[in-house]
Amino acid sequence: MTVIAENKTKPAAKMPDGPKTPKWLATIRAILAPLTYIEKAAKDYGDIYTAQFAGFPRQVVVSNPQAIQEIFTADPNLFDSGVANKILQPITGDYSLLLHDGDYHQRQRRLLIPPFHGERMRAYGDIICQITEEVMSQLTIGKTFVARSYMQEISLRVILRAVFGLDENSRFQQLRETLSSMLDTFNSPWSSSLLFLKFLQQDLGPWSPWGRFLRQKQQIDELLYAEIRERRAANDLSREDILSLMLSARDEHGEPMTDAELRDELMTLLFAGHETTATALAWALYWIHYLPEVREKLLAELDSLGDNPDPDKVFRLPYLSAVCSETLRIYPVTLFTFPRIVKSQFQLMGYEFPAGTMLSPCVYLTHHREDIYPEPKRFKPERFLERQFSPYEFISFGGGNRRCIGMAFALFEMKLVLAKILRSQQLVLIDNRPLKAVRRGITTTPDGGVRMVVTGSR
Ligand code: HEM
Repeated sequence: MTVIAENKTKPAAKMPDGPKTPKWLATIRAILAPLTYIEKAAKDYGDIYTAQFAGFPRQVVVSNPQAIQEIFTADPNLFDSGVANKILQPITGDYSLLLHDGDYHQRQRRLLIPPFHGERMRAYGDIICQITEEVMSQLTIGKTFVARSYMQEISLRVILRAVFGLDENSRFQQLRETLSSMLDTFNSPWSSSLLFLKFLQQDLGPWSPWGRFLRQKQQIDELLYAEIRERRAANDLSREDILSLMLSARDEHGEPMTDAELRDELMTLLFAGHETTATALAWALYWIHYLPEVREKLLAELDSLGDNPDPDKVFRLPYLSAVCSETLRIYPVTLFTFPRIVKSQFQLMGYEFPAGTMLSPCVYLTHHREDIYPEPKRFKPERFLERQFSPYEFISFGGGNRRCIGMAFALFEMKLVLAKILRSQQLVLIDNRPLKAVRRGITTTPDGGVRMVVTGSR
């Protein structure tokens, strides 16, 4: 009784204004034309607005760097993110760190961060170059190809090597093919609806989209469980790949990870670790070949390193770094970071958000602020040479306790792959026209995947 009386006297928490579109219509627009939807909302309501979608809690979209700083630097215990990532559960499974908060999330992060950094990451330099060469050598002069598919093959092979180690056995090949094909389920804005609209997730047999997805997932599970079983039995302590590290990890009670936990974390890395990088690489190839002056400058910089440059030197090239950053700025692979769901009242930009509010830092809108990035629609790598942007202005990899664990690895891979391709092949865009960004699952990707042709070698 007392509690109810107290709630009645409290002033209602003030929420920022936002689009009044009916929830179902907003949901369809946000799935099919996400950029148009968020740009219009930001134009009408500014850098903090409330959006409402069918099946989701009220979402507050933030593109103000001070506010983003407050979110990223706040005590992580004030927010939950895992529950809001539930739409990824069909792909990653229940135990993925993406779906958890608190101790379990922290423990898994601590385990997975080191293999993607420092010396351990650099050990993959030669493998990345070798895989790029193998994949790109399938292309002969005059052959047209979709850059995103080739970049996906490269990034998938790279992450598989990092996760499972060196031997590319037949299980490895099967895993590669089935995983690629399973993720292609979400390769268009329409088919991406399958992830967002639960009622579409119906198994209507092997020919229905969801039915096929489930069967491919089953095959992948079998392959992953077979590998886990074999590795446990072999107990080879000399291996340094990520699966081996996960197999030897023990929690505070001395318990190892279960097979189901291992399967879900492997799937998380395979999914998060290659879809994103493949899209970023496809965009980079597009911009580099759409703007000849960018390609020329890059080639001059790469040539200055001489033959067979050290991967570390390639990684540190300033113009190549600026091209990668500008690629990730102008069309960020994910339009939003993970949401932060407020656990108890939280103040931000003069608003008081009640528990349950979903705060969503918007990467795209932040990266398109005229006051931080003048002429935001223009691809200008030089802006990254002229000034340094704060980690709350450039947020392609998110921040705080959820910041992408693969950031360094992804940038390392992007630079080595681009350097390898540009130094060995001459590519041309088939349609030299502006490309739209379209949805592919939870990412945004170049429409048509960037169609190119090989015109010569260098
Ligand atoms: C260009 C490539 C990539 C981009 C743009 C990207 C972007 C992101 C973003 C925006 C987040 C959410 C961060 C937040 O909410 O604060 C994230 C999380 C994550 N990323 Fe990446 N990522 C990329 C590559 C990778 C790679 C190569 C891996 C493989 C290791 C990876 C693994 C993860 C994982 C495991 C998380 C979840 C972290 C957590 O929940 O604590 N990502 N990524």
